[in-house]
Amino acid sequence: MSRRPLYEKLLSLHKQNRSSFHTPGHKYGTFFPAEMMLLDFTELPETDALFEANGVILSAEQKLSELYSTAASCISAGGCSLAIQAMLRTAKDRGGKLLCARNAHRSAVNAMALLDIQPVWLYPKGSSHYTGRIQPEDIAAAFREHPDITACYLTSPSYYGEMCDIGAIARICHNHDAILLVDNAHGSHLAFMEQNCHPIALGADMTACSLHKTMPVLTGGAVLNIRTPGLAQHAKAYMSLFASTSPSYLIMSSIDLCVDYMLYNGGKADYLRCEYTVAALKKLAADRGVPQAEGLCDPLRLTLNTAACGIAGEDKQQSFFDDFKIDCEFCDGENAVLICTPFNREKDFQRLRSAILQLQPADKPYAPFPALSAPPCVMSLREAVLSPFETVPVHQAAGRIAADTVCPCPPGVPLIMPGEKITSAAAALLSRRNITSLHVVAGHK
Ligand SMILES: Cc1ncc(COP(=O)(O)O)c(C=O)c1O
Repeated sequence: MSRRPLYEKLLSLHKQNRSSFHTPGHKYGTFFPAEMMLLDFTELPETDALFEANGVILSAEQKLSELYSTAASCISAGGCSLAIQAMLRTAKDRGGKLLCARNAHRSAVNAMALLDIQPVWLYPKGSSHYTGRIQPEDIAAAFREHPDITACYLTSPSYYGEMCDIGAIARICHNHDAILLVDNAHGSHLAFMEQNCHPIALGADMTACSLHKTMPVLTGGAVLNIRTPGLAQHAKAYMSLFASTSPSYLIMSSIDLCVDYMLYNGGKADYLRCEYTVAALKKLAADRGVPQAEGLCDPLRLTLNTAACGIAGEDKQQSFFDDFKIDCEFCDGENAVLICTPFNREKDFQRLRSAILQLQPADKPYAPFPALSAPPCVMSLREAVLSPFETVPVHQAAGRIAADTVCPCPPGVPLIMPGEKITSAAAALLSRRNITSLHVVAGHK
């Protein structure tokens, strides 16, 4: 075994010169200056402190706030997960119920378990377990059924690029004196599209944005954006509850460089150009009859249903894209998800064009994965996550209670939530998704 197994693997991947259509958004290019590696500082009198910022970090956050037109923007070096934790802590503060779309990322589910929030789940209507979006009328109906909802938590865009009608949903929430919290992990760039469709611009009260996914920021760099001034007061305290006391200055300063690029160095024009490039790729796929994510969608996300073109199953999808030296963000067996940014080279887009030109609808239809109906919930998230657990093979899981989120990652959207009873249909779906074992609550059979 190599003496530096991780480092050398990364180096060898780098040398393969493949086309990255996955995170991070900077695509390993030359966005960051070489001297940056010399700047791995820590908290010193001159370098400020993230959770008591009143110096250079505060100034960097004020620039972020200018970029996203927020009341306040708080840097996270602990990914979007940290911003999500802070949003949920804010929801906890309000009392009442939290309405939550069931396609939430597992970071949100874990935070709810730790904070002892048992949400009212709302199932997106879609073709599979992870896809689909919540409609404004679903939110309105939930308020009629649960008048004590005080906060609503949505994921938009989804991993597949599907966006909710945030403007309409925000109006419904505000009419009921509830706040709208959006996991916008995949949508930091939406403010820079021809039509600004960032959830903050559309009325969300708070958003958690994974800058590193679609912007030129080091992995782990994210922002908690706050539109409603009253919600800013405790935000830092809520973040520090979950965060490391040693946030990376490399990550934080990469955010500073990104903001400078977007505000003063042509970033907005580059993102617009990228939008047109991806629109042309989407049109090329549509002209060839390749099914894609439908409806209101992230302009920079390409989701191609290769299964409908006879390329079904993760292995087959991987090998199809391997032929073009393309790395997808995610192949789920049916859809290939590709993240495009201005940091993809012309060569990358050329490879993608060539791949799309090889796709065409198959004569034989394929059988899509079935959507799971809501499994019975027999224990709260918190009780299940904090219970003693045992690991069992999937074929012995039916009838047991999940002690953890059960999800393929990506996309990190639980098929089963902690506290839910695993049905035989759910166990069969987990096997189909290549999950072989899971944690169940010990002693409950
Ligand atoms: C929808 C969604 N939310 C939250 C996260 C967590 O983001 P981060 O990895 O930046 O903590 C992810 C990660 O993939 C995600 O897909």
